[in-house]
Amino acid sequence: MTSSSGKQRYYITTPIYYVNDKPHIGHAYTTLACDVLARFKRLDGYETHFLTGTDEHGQKVEKSAEKAGVDPQTFTDQVSQNFRDLTAGFGFSQDDFIRTTEERHKKACQALWKRLEEKGFIYLGGYEGWYAVRDEAFYTETELVEGPNGQKLAPTGAEVEWVEEPSYFFKLSAFTEKLLEHYETNPDFIGPSSRRNEVISFVKGGLRDLSISRTTFKWGVPVPGNDEHIMYVWLDALTNYMTAVGYPDVESGIYQKFWPADLHMVGKDILRFHAVYWPAFLMAADLPLPKRVFAHGWWTNEGQKISKSLGNVIDPFALKDEFGLDQVRYFMLREVPFGNDGDYSRHQMIQRINSDLANDIGNLSQRVLSMIFKNCDAQIPTPGAYTEADQALLQQAEALLPALRDHFDRQSFHKGLEQVWDVISAANRYVDEQAPWGLKKTDPERMKTVLYVLADVIRQIAILVQPVMPESMDRMLSQMGVDPEKRSFADIGLSLQSGYALEKPVGVFPRFVEEEA
Ligand code: ME8
Ligand code: MG
Repeated sequence: MTSSSGKQRYYITTPIYYVNDKPHIGHAYTTLACDVLARFKRLDGYETHFLTGTDEHGQKVEKSAEKAGVDPQTFTDQVSQNFRDLTAGFGFSQDDFIRTTEERHKKACQALWKRLEEKGFIYLGGYEGWYAVRDEAFYTETELVEGPNGQKLAPTGAEVEWVEEPSYFFKLSAFTEKLLEHYETNPDFIGPSSRRNEVISFVKGGLRDLSISRTTFKWGVPVPGNDEHIMYVWLDALTNYMTAVGYPDVESGIYQKFWPADLHMVGKDILRFHAVYWPAFLMAADLPLPKRVFAHGWWTNEGQKISKSLGNVIDPFALKDEFGLDQVRYFMLREVPFGNDGDYSRHQMIQRINSDLANDIGNLSQRVLSMIFKNCDAQIPTPGAYTEADQALLQQAEALLPALRDHFDRQSFHKGLEQVWDVISAANRYVDEQAPWGLKKTDPERMKTVLYVLADVIRQIAILVQPVMPESMDRMLSQMGVDPEKRSFADIGLSLQSGYALEKPVGVFPRFVEEEA
């Protein structure tokens, strides 16, 4: 988004996670993807607002607190902290961490409710139907499936209960055509396109009014004017994206700057809430819609669904401790085409670490810097005139920034990284072809040029890969003496400073060696 000041802005959000559970790899994955985009945009000169947080209301959380034998507030304080710890442990760079139990959020929810009511989109009725606490979702009879013991289950496999209670409704049915028109005129509103088609056919099936209050539990935001009713947790939860930028104060600077959001990143399980309900609420309230919702896929563990009962939940901290943070960050975004389901496999993790990181990029920088250290008086050399081969490699590196912008704006992280690794491979081939070690005696000036070209290509690559592996790229750039103030995308066009005195280079990506049992 461009503003009058000319500064481009970017507002990106993760789902807010339920505090009924400890964070696992799935949560880390979504927030990681957002962290990478937020870092990418910051380096690309955008004023960026990156939001994550926790969803702390609803029957599911109330039940989990009860099970743990503590009151909901104490319970949510504890579990929310686990999610904060995850953001710290994974180096996530959020600008704000929202909790739906905060006062600012209650205020925003009630303001939005009143606005929807004033506009005539809320009415009081009665709800009779199926509810799944695990999904915090209502289901129709026809959506239910039969469980292994013949019991009725939600299509997600969650247990359902029959609910009969007075309820406020949102006139969702009034938005079928408007939503379809919005999807049509904004083809990028939902990504990836396979998911977009699913949403469109769901909406084409017709929308029924949505129950938006519950009376059988207390842990939530009271409906303004009738506190027998607690707001349906999804209306509460979705509003967080606006709370965090100051809603209902629409005159505030932060709201003016950042609403509407540029991207709501979600897992495929909650796309319907974000791509159907949320835009309908906003249309009804006459507020601007987010620009894009992207639903990524689902992780399984060695081919199996991840579940507590199977005992195969992947702890992101354990992965980080064993393999290293940047290694895990890289693996998650490179291994699986973003948008598709993916499988966590230990073998593949080690493969990526040893092949892409240790061999390809790690070895490239270690070889080049070691040769400079040994053969150029440990100083970044001054290049002579470039040959065609030099220019070809430099041009390939220069083409990366526009390509990455394009891939990352479509959340195709894997494609962006693939293209970076193509240049790394090209650079490794260039080392072999130019054989700088042989030039030391025959043509030392040419050797310097070759090593300089390589170091400059490594500099460009390291700048571009910072969003994915911030710590390692920081070390790589520091080894070459790249000024920390000269590491944004606008600095890519500058050339590497000659004359910097290197310390003895230390490999940034060690091989992972499986310990003997
Ligand atoms: O749905 N693979 O919260 P939640 C990939 N509070 N991603 C996964 C995953 C897996 N196996 N498991 C979880 C809620 N996720 C609501 C959201 S937003 C206004 C309210 C990720 O704790 C994925 O992003 O159940 C998914 O959408 C999210 O966690 C669900 O988190
Ligand atoms: Mg869930």
